Amino acid sequence: MHDFEPAGPPQGPNPPRGNGAQRHGGNMTARIIDGNALSARIREDVAERAQKLTGRGVRPGLAVVLVGEDPASQVYVRNKVAACEKAGLYSIKEQYPAHITEAELLSHIARLNQDPAIHGILVQLPLPKHIDSHKVIEAIAAEKDVDGFHISNAGLLMTGQPLFRPCTPYGVMKMLESEGVPLRGAEAVVVGASNIVGKPMAMLLLQAGATVTLCNSKTRDLGAQTRRADVLVVATGRPRMVDGGMVKPGAVVIDVGINRGEDGKLCGDVDFASASQVAGAITPVPGGVGPMTIAMLLVNTIEAAERAAGATA
Ligand code: GUN
Repeated sequence: MHDFEPAGPPQGPNPPRGNGAQRHGGNMTARIIDGNALSARIREDVAERAQKLTGRGVRPGLAVVLVGEDPASQVYVRNKVAACEKAGLYSIKEQYPAHITEAELLSHIARLNQDPAIHGILVQLPLPKHIDSHKVIEAIAAEKDVDGFHISNAGLLMTGQPLFRPCTPYGVMKMLESEGVPLRGAEAVVVGASNIVGKPMAMLLLQAGATVTLCNSKTRDLGAQTRRADVLVVATGRPRMVDGGMVKPGAVVIDVGINRGEDGKLCGDVDFASASQVAGAITPVPGGVGPMTIAMLLVNTIEAAERAAGATA
């Protein structure tokens, strides 16, 4: 049914580490990329850096701003604040009702911009419809924009001089690096072109030397694109939309999606059961990209605090 090209041998000087895909009775079973384990190592490193900085009199601080009652956003924000505390960072959560005006929200951002105890500011998205999220993001001081969403940070990333890399794509790059996935000359296909994930993901892969295809919801014959990918990153928000038939044998598959399936369980944008029979390595949901996003938020916050401390030393 599917006309796969067999995967070639690993390319480049840096073949994947580990056991690679295992053969079981003719089926390929992908190596699982463990985001929990990698994020724990990164958070330990952040905790050490936070301790050093705190010893110098600068405790790294993150402000997380949440507007409204969206249950998923509440969980994300709670997890972000808890991870900060665990790593020894100072963090505050500011929660405002859904009917807050744009002007009021902007005045809170202005106050946080001025607060020397706060090195990173994150406004959880999406915001209520009556608030222009672009305006809010542009109001965050670029040097405190730990999400990397401010246009000046997007521009710096695009021109190869990033100040902050957006947390989710940054986490994906760390996973690829820790797995020893060769990117120079690799075919990388990103499905989903959001400002938060897809576009910055494409930039980071491009800068790492991959040939990048960025697909969107209008892409014709998506499978023809995804089947070319040595590295496939899926960030569509559509449960299980990429299945094993859309994956090149031996490919590295990164699933950015977190969806609630009809069975009530969490599932990704990739159909794990079929894709893991074809891929060489794959991220699970949960326990894949999700924990990496939080780890990289902590990395960006500590970097912001280190830069601020350096500037004032
Ligand atoms: N909503 C979904 N993902 C993100 C993220 O990475 N940062 C923020 N601020 N909001 C989000």
